[in-house]
Formats: sequence, C-alpha cells, structure tokens
Amino acid sequence: MSRKNKLRKFAEIVSFPNVYECYNVQEPALVGVNMTPVEMKGAWHRDHFKNEHPITLELACGGGEYTVDLARRFPDRNFIGIDVKGNRLWAGARTALTEGLHNAAFLRTRIEVIASFFAPGEVSELWITFPDPFPRESQENRRLMAPMFLERYREILKPGGLLHLKHDDAVFFQYSLQVINSDARCTLLYQNENIYASPLLYPELGIQTLYEGKHLAAGKTIKYLRCTIS
Ligand SMILES: C[S@@+](CC[C@H](N)C(=O)[O-])C[C@H]1O[C@@H](n2cnc3c(N)ncnc32)[C@H](O)[C@@H]1O
Repeated sequence: MSRKNKLRKFAEIVSFPNVYECYNVQEPALVGVNMTPVEMKGAWHRDHFKNEHPITLELACGGGEYTVDLARRFPDRNFIGIDVKGNRLWAGARTALTEGLHNAAFLRTRIEVIASFFAPGEVSELWITFPDPFPRESQENRRLMAPMFLERYREILKPGGLLHLKHDDAVFFQYSLQVINSDARCTLLYQNENIYASPLLYPELGIQTLYEGKHLAAGKTIKYLRCTIS
C-alpha cells in the first residue's frame, strides 16, 4: 500500500464513529470520533453499544473479517476488532459503517495494554485470528498466546469466558496447546488440526480472514482450538 493511501486511511479513520484509538501505550488512553478523549473501561455497553448484549473481541483482527461477519450473523451480540494497525482496521470499520452494523466497533491499540480499556468481566469471548507466529524463541513473549497475554485476557474476561484461536502454523499451535495445558485455570474444550477435513463444528468457523485465504492458497491446513479461561 502506498504511503499516500495509508495517510488517507489514517485521516479518514479519525472521523469514524465506530473506531477508538490509543496513541501512547506508555500512558494508555483512548480517543473516539474526531480525537475526543473517552473513558471506555466499563462503559462499552452504556456509551457505545447502548445495550447489554455480550461483548466478543477479535484480537489481531487486521481487516476485521471475523468482527464484521460475526456482527452480521449475531445481531444480539457485540463485537470489537482490535489491532495496532489503523490502515488495516479501516477496512472492517468502513464495511461496518456502510452496512449499518451497530454491533461492531474497532479499537486500535497494542494488545499488551488491553486491560486498560476493559473492566473485569466486561468481555465474554475472545477470538484470536492468525496472530503473528514470532517463531524465534527470543520472541516467545510476543506471541499472543504467551502466558503474559493470557493473564491480560483473564483480567477482562468473565470467569470461564471462551477463547477461540485459529492458526496455520503448527509450531504456534503446539505452543498454544502447551500454554493452555500448563495453566490450571484454562480448560481445553476442543482442538482440530485441519478444520476443513470434515464438516465444520459450527458455521462461523468457516469465516475466512485475509491471511487465512493466503494460507489456504499456499496449501496449508487451518488449525483451531477453543478453551475457557477462569
Ligand atoms: C498475520 S496478521 C493477521 C490479521 C488478520 N487476523 C487475518 O487473519 O487476516 C497479524 C495481525 O496482528 C497484529 N498484531 C500483532 N501483534 C500485535 C499486538 N501486540 N497488538 C495489536 N496488534 C498486533 C498485526 O498488526 C497484524 O494485523
């Protein structure tokens, strides 16, 4: 993408009423539409969605394919796509606005500081879709399934909240299973190393993200796990 195109998207996203942004992870704070400072922790139902429906987050959402498609399929639930890259979020946020999906919002932040933006128990479910694998051992702590990240998720999830992970990379998948199985407060509910080899467990597992499309085109199998976190 050209620099000009990126800058256009950064400028446009500021005017989107369904996007919140954190500009400084050292002092995490959010701005909403037209850079207005907002305090969303504990206030997503009241101040954004205007309902009490359960909230699902899509972490590392990129263009937000899961956020948008889940919002279409489940009008009685709320969805928030989260990624650090505004030019990627722009696509999902614009589609949600065009289609009038009032149950989809987007948050641009690093996931490391996610607990600054959600109150304990405010979130019911997490989807993590094709996060960067960070294959080197020295990068292990940056993997979104590292124990440090699970601690952040635990802070914001309802007790027993669900986490779904979809990935193409066998090493990342095995690492995730190992982290879950060594955490006494996580329970693995389901795992499948090739979801398309048999009928899908449920229809929304077939939503395909940009990266999933690339991995399938390259002949990779798609892996999925689901666990609870207490
Ligand atoms: C491989 S892409 C996957 C995007 C999308 N889920 C898909 O499947 O097409 C990984 C995404 O994770 C985001 N990401 C990686 N580490 C992150 C972090 N610590 N906080 C927020 N976003 C992160 C990147 O910006 C990128 O958009």
